[in-house]
Amino acid sequence: MKEKILLELKMHPDYISGEEISNRLQVSRTAIWKSINQLKDMGYVIDSQTRKGYKLLESPDILLPLEMKKNLNTVFIGQSFQYLEQVDSTNLYAKRIAEDGFENGTIIIAEEQLKGKGRLGRLWVSPKEKGIWMTIMLKPKISPADAAKVTLLAACAVCKAIEETCNVHPKIKWPNDIVLNGKKLCGILTEMSAEQDEIIYLIVGIGINVNLELQDFPQELQEIATSLRIETGNPVIRKDLAAAIINYFESYYKAFIETGGIESFIQEYKEKSAVLGREVRVTSSSLQLTGTVVDISNEGQLLLRLEDGSIKEIISGEVSVRGMDGYI
Ligand code: BTN
Repeated sequence: MKEKILLELKMHPDYISGEEISNRLQVSRTAIWKSINQLKDMGYVIDSQTRKGYKLLESPDILLPLEMKKNLNTVFIGQSFQYLEQVDSTNLYAKRIAEDGFENGTIIIAEEQLKGKGRLGRLWVSPKEKGIWMTIMLKPKISPADAAKVTLLAACAVCKAIEETCNVHPKIKWPNDIVLNGKKLCGILTEMSAEQDEIIYLIVGIGINVNLELQDFPQELQEIATSLRIETGNPVIRKDLAAAIINYFESYYKAFIETGGIESFIQEYKEKSAVLGREVRVTSSSLQLTGTVVDISNEGQLLLRLEDGSIKEIISGEVSVRGMDGYI
């Protein structure tokens, strides 16, 4: 109900009377009054005047689909949209609802996650209204082996959107960490349900540290994680950034699905790479290797030149880049 009332307020830049809202939406004046109060609690500044009615004066930076709509130009990503004030994890939520079927391109976005999931079972710090915590739900007709490519394109989309919105130039640490000034800004967790050669669904969880301040991170992360606010010195309008990510994501994803390949974005991905040409250490459950990254293949694999000169294709693993203090 409150979203319908908000829409009415947005459509009427001047005052709109309670009676008119009541007639248009077929709801009682008390219900309107309650929703107006809920909107005020959410941060909307609404003037109420006995004779004139209500006027929306200011909207908060929250990630309601209605707030992003004017900046979204997608055809299917985000056409179905679930906004949650609080959730355990948008990925867990997405998996729960996926069981009952969902529209391709559904977005789950939350203001706060209580159990944000990072890779390798880590917790992803997701304080209220400080970041973008979202999951894009997809049904790609691709082989499960190609799912990792969607993560690469998501990283590229996030990077482009950050550049455009915040005028900074983050880098991608293969496969999908986004770093700025050597610290982690964004993580992507792609999960899928698959049967043999078929993906049942793929969910792409994107977490971006937007307006967190240093004290929002636990002590042990303060040296290695950062936010756009910390790096730029200014708060960032989350709804503009989220809309830009969704737009770029759809454009890369469409090209990927149409061509089946990553040609449309791999060049861009390489230009933003934090590892290309660098000496790195790759750690996975089964191996640890050091070498120089000579390329990223059209399959999205890391091509590593080892000490003996041979080239090793890396499909997955954690990468640390050799820096002044060893590998970081
Ligand atoms: C990583 O460890 O680098 C991946 C972090 C992914 C975090 C995002 S936040 C939105 C989505 N929901 C989750 O629980 N995790 C992902």
